[in-house]
Amino acid sequence: MQLIIANWKANKSTTSVASWFADFRKTLADLKPDATQPSDRRVVIAPAAFLLSAVKIEIEATASLVKEKLGAELSLGVQDISHLGAGSYTGAIAAIHLPQLGVTHAILGHSERRRYFHETHQEVAGKVIQALDNDIIPVVCVDQAYSADQIRVIGSKWAKKIVFAYEPLSAIGTGQNASVGDVRIEVELIQSLTSQAPVIYGGSITDQTINEYLLVAAGGLVGSASLEGTSFAQLLAAAW
Ligand code: PGA
Repeated sequence: MQLIIANWKANKSTTSVASWFADFRKTLADLKPDATQPSDRRVVIAPAAFLLSAVKIEIEATASLVKEKLGAELSLGVQDISHLGAGSYTGAIAAIHLPQLGVTHAILGHSERRRYFHETHQEVAGKVIQALDNDIIPVVCVDQAYSADQIRVIGSKWAKKIVFAYEPLSAIGTGQNASVGDVRIEVELIQSLTSQAPVIYGGSITDQTINEYLLVAAGGLVGSASLEGTSFAQLLAAAW
């Protein structure tokens, strides 16, 4: 499996979604069709929750182009879900409502959620269960300092069904991407604790560096370089 996720964070509006996808399609249209057509590549676009419906419509109009040019599936992701189910939880995003929108993946426990919203390992573990119960693949973000603790709290029973994202704090949004050697070491550590769960890397990835990370990790979680449709398409073209 190779997975590249665009994490738009709290950027974009209802009007900028259409222009992002127009630019994305225009850049992809100029590429040669992918000749190898491998079966297990996926691109996930993870917008802010209020944009999910708008992005769903654009994904439906774009998926066949992504398949033709990159040999990859295209689907929708979320940046968080609630650790609680549906019910009286004002402001929460309950996982149960997301599959009908076509959501396949949920970024969980991102360091910005841990830092600004005080998410704990326990809450992230609860979010993992909610995602799995609703057939959404959890993408659990960890840094080196707490990856083993987070995996222990989730429990090895579930850990095999999860994608982990190694996201060193020092690399997120800083332009200081981690060395490929460091990523390899952390990927191996996480895999040794999880019966070989897939591990992707995130932190200042660009179209210049995505290739090296794909040699040691199962994909990338891309923030800044996903904010323009043109440059994200170029990054995917560089990857595949
Ligand atoms: P960045 O963000 O690519 O801007 O470093 C990555 C992330 O936060 O997931």
